[in-house]
Amino acid sequence: MKISVAIDGPAGAGKSTIAKILSKKFNLNYIDTGAMYRGVTLLAQRKGINPEEIEELCKLIKSSEFYFLKDKLFINGEDVSEEIRNVEVTNKVSLYAAVEEVRELLVDIQKNISKNYSVIMDGRDIGAIVLPEANVKFFITASPEIRAKRRYKELTRKNKIVEYENILQEIIKRDYIDSNREINPLRKVEDAIEIDTSSLCIDEIVEQMSIYIEKAIESVGD
Ligand code: DC
Repeated sequence: MKISVAIDGPAGAGKSTIAKILSKKFNLNYIDTGAMYRGVTLLAQRKGINPEEIEELCKLIKSSEFYFLKDKLFINGEDVSEEIRNVEVTNKVSLYAAVEEVRELLVDIQKNISKNYSVIMDGRDIGAIVLPEANVKFFITASPEIRAKRRYKELTRKNKIVEYENILQEIIKRDYIDSNREINPLRKVEDAIEIDTSSLCIDEIVEQMSIYIEKAIESVGD
């Protein structure tokens, strides 16, 4: 029995935290597609390739091997999980993620993974493009202010010196680019279950989502 769970939503809504917990609970492979766009951004920055250099970008992606091991992203054998979260990558990733050819190549890799394994995949275009046949689709939201507060707390906990207002502005900017780009913008598909996490704690969110996943597992098992 193979199932797939799609989770979409804006940056900082809590998708990855929740997806990691659910992946363990239901024994699904967690695929963080945002990490893959970040990975491409990191590789491109290292090589000085900007988002307009499409041919170079495609070559870079085609010559790289992406895989996940225990929630960590490896590219060509290197664990890049920490580095892809740095400010330089975070501030530029939506520009690379808006390039059609980059999206096509990464969507192909993501579709291939889901052919062979049960997955819980999070991103922006999962329900619409990557896993249109997913057994369950979620759309997770929270207000920009709540998302900025969460991010601020997370970074200050790691002793990073950051300003709340800057984080909020970056989130608003990233939302705008992700939702208004021409290719596969962030949007809720009709058959997705929407969950606003603004006033919910993690346990409550997991509990709500688990009910839908359990139902899907039951119906696949029938
Ligand atoms: O989820 P995240 O913040 O790590 O995502 C990083 C960027 O990649 C963000 O700007 C949105 C983009 N992204 C995307 O366009 N499509 C996806 N499936 C996942 C992420």
